[in-house]
Amino acid sequence: MLHRLWGENVKRIAVLTSGGDAPGMNAAIRSVVRTGLYHGLTVFGVSRGYLGLMNGEMEEMDTRSVGDIVQRAGTILRSARSEKFKTEEGRREALFQLEKRGIEGLVVIGGDGSFRGAKCLADLGVATIGIPASIDNDVACTDLAIGFDTAANTAVDAITKIRDTASSHGRVNVIEVMGRTTGFLALAAGLAGGAEYILIPEIEFDLDDICEKILSGYQRGKTHNIVVVAEGVGGYHAPGREFGHSAGFEVGKALKEKTGLETRVTVLGYIQRGGAPTVQDRLIASRFGLRAVELLMSGKAGRMVGLTQGEIRDYDIDYAVSQKKAVNLDDYRLSEMLT
Ligand code: F6P
Repeated sequence: MLHRLWGENVKRIAVLTSGGDAPGMNAAIRSVVRTGLYHGLTVFGVSRGYLGLMNGEMEEMDTRSVGDIVQRAGTILRSARSEKFKTEEGRREALFQLEKRGIEGLVVIGGDGSFRGAKCLADLGVATIGIPASIDNDVACTDLAIGFDTAANTAVDAITKIRDTASSHGRVNVIEVMGRTTGFLALAAGLAGGAEYILIPEIEFDLDDICEKILSGYQRGKTHNIVVVAEGVGGYHAPGREFGHSAGFEVGKALKEKTGLETRVTVLGYIQRGGAPTVQDRLIASRFGLRAVELLMSGKAGRMVGLTQGEIRDYDIDYAVSQKKAVNLDDYRLSEMLT
């Protein structure tokens, strides 16, 4: 039978971060805690995501618990990926821990995998609200997820530096960026960083054609060629998980063999997950946090908050996780026109 724990009088809520961390998660935690306290709620912080939730790793937060974190990347609540939580047994344990403390509402800060977990808890009667946070920006129903802007800026900074040395040596430089199976981060970083070519999993490309263009570019006096490659190209993803497999190195190797040009590969990897969050990420994190608390206070559950055309809105979480977000094809075409 469905427990209906929530209502318009939600007084005790908890917040957790789950999945890959993203710069700005701390700003979102701070916002949930402080806006919750402002409205007279009791707020618990859960450590290590769903894993900690099942183990009952949670503490009541006060305003000082979230002091001095708005500028810090990572997550003070720490994060984890849990296989057990995907089972009915695991979710029942989580429910038990929440009920034991009289916690009626839960804010989940994470990506779409974390939202699936939030949806399962909502089905068990916990009032859950999702806040999108992922450097991949692959969560549907929001133009931006927390962390994407910071990660894109980090990648652009790296591209800019690599371009300096690329020009000195006249090399082809391949730069692999994260994004899991999607190309949102690669497209944004490549476009803003002025990359000559951007390879993403969503759009087919012809390496022979790219090689021809690179060679004719050099004949016309071009001094560098920056090729941004999303880690998911060719079915690869998550460097470090499968050592030795990398879309960037595969593409670099092929370009070198086909053009004979000196080629270098840089895998940006986990530096994209760190660094002080940008103003944009801090702002959306703060606004998302407030909206999540307001939704819980008004008796809403099973929702996610998102940014649509500059406005903070909320969506059915079930609907959001069933949708596939599409890359901006106009941006891709623009990147082609600009090279
Ligand atoms: O989802 C964020 C992300 O950084 C992806 O871009 C990357 O593929 C993945 O997480 C790496 O995950 P992990 O931290 O588990 O190695």
